[in-house]
Amino acid sequence: MATKKAPAKKTAKAPAATAKKSCCKKACAKKTAPKAIKIYHDKDVDDSVLKGKTIAVIGYGAQGRAQALCLRDSGVNVIIGVRKGKSFKAAKAEGFETLSVDKAAKKADIIHILLPDESHKSVYAEEIAKHVTAGKTLCCSHGFAYVFKNIVPPADVDVIMVAPKGPGTEVRRVFEEGFGCPGLVAVFQNASGNALQTALAIAKGEGLTRGGVLECTMEQETYEDLFGEQNVLCGGIVDLMKYGFETLVEAGYPDEMAYFECVHEAKLIVDIIYNKGIAAMNAVISNTAEFGEYYNGPKIITPDVKKRMKESLKRIESGEFAKAWMREAAKGAPTLAKKREQLSKHRVEIVGEKIRKLFERK
Ligand SMILES: NC(=O)c1ccc[n+]([C@@H]2O[C@H](COP(=O)([O-])OP(=O)(O)OC[C@H]3O[C@@H](n4cnc5c(N)ncnc54)[C@H](OP(=O)(O)O)[C@@H]3O)[C@@H](O)[C@H]2O)c1
Repeated sequence: MATKKAPAKKTAKAPAATAKKSCCKKACAKKTAPKAIKIYHDKDVDDSVLKGKTIAVIGYGAQGRAQALCLRDSGVNVIIGVRKGKSFKAAKAEGFETLSVDKAAKKADIIHILLPDESHKSVYAEEIAKHVTAGKTLCCSHGFAYVFKNIVPPADVDVIMVAPKGPGTEVRRVFEEGFGCPGLVAVFQNASGNALQTALAIAKGEGLTRGGVLECTMEQETYEDLFGEQNVLCGGIVDLMKYGFETLVEAGYPDEMAYFECVHEAKLIVDIIYNKGIAAMNAVISNTAEFGEYYNGPKIITPDVKKRMKESLKRIESGEFAKAWMREAAKGAPTLAKKREQLSKHRVEIVGEKIRKLFERK
């Protein structure tokens, strides 16, 4: 797609947000977050709440590694709890006191569980639960386990969430640059009366309050996160790319060109939206591209898509999706394995590998 450099178009000033009427009784009742979202920055945080405390980061994968390193760099006492294997070796090599999950949970004041969501239930029951004693804090970066009751914590502990809005590599990269990923904090259980302060102090230690963290409920984060990844970020975008690619290829266009148009260029467009917004993206694409966006876009993404998205949100909020995923995980995730195998054989992946190699910077 051709892009042009054009002076930014004038955009209408966004109208001031108007108070929305309650839309539905059942779903809204769950969303008990403050009406005006609160954003916290470094200056709002008293990190002395972590003084003398030990945080056990359970799991040393994408999030575990990034969050543990950032917290340690901020002077927080961090230990790692993980099973023996690749992650265990990595945490040890990076200088952490690395223990079994059981031992780390026992030693910690704050148990920050950063395991895959489908493992929280069994690992918590077998190795963590017995160490969750009065006054301790349970922390997570995604509310799945608590919202869908895979973990039912005792009433005398705090349960909080500190969720960076980005993959672990990004959390660490931005922190090392002296800034921070944005993030969300939530309090699920406030036994001490101090749970929010603990969550904010952890967020600060990870650099998240440098940009700002938003306070929400764990339900909001869990439902919105699942909805976003299933309908837009992963589910939606991937299928849109694949259908676009297949349409061109089936019409006789070369795979390489179809890949450029439907996959490669998506990053260029999303980068502009990420940095400056949709109107700014429209201002730098050609007028032809912009007219095409209005002419054909709504014929592809029809109001019916929104209707199905609403149904998808219901399946998430009702717990139907969570049950299906936990059932799949309990069987060893055969559907995931099959889908991964199918995708690896798809022409979009085969040509993509070739194209990316071609344009790799040596
Ligand atoms: N990835 C993201 O972008 C992102 C963003 C925000 C929040 N989150 C949340 O962060 C949490 C962690 O996700 P992640 O992406 O960091 O996971 P991940 O990269 O898959 O890492 C999982 C870690 O847990 C360990 N582990 C797995 N099963 C275990 C078990 N049975 N016992 C002990 N250790 C075990 C793994 O060790 P091995 O090396 O031995 O397998 C690995 O160190 C999840 O709740 C997720 O929803 C993720």
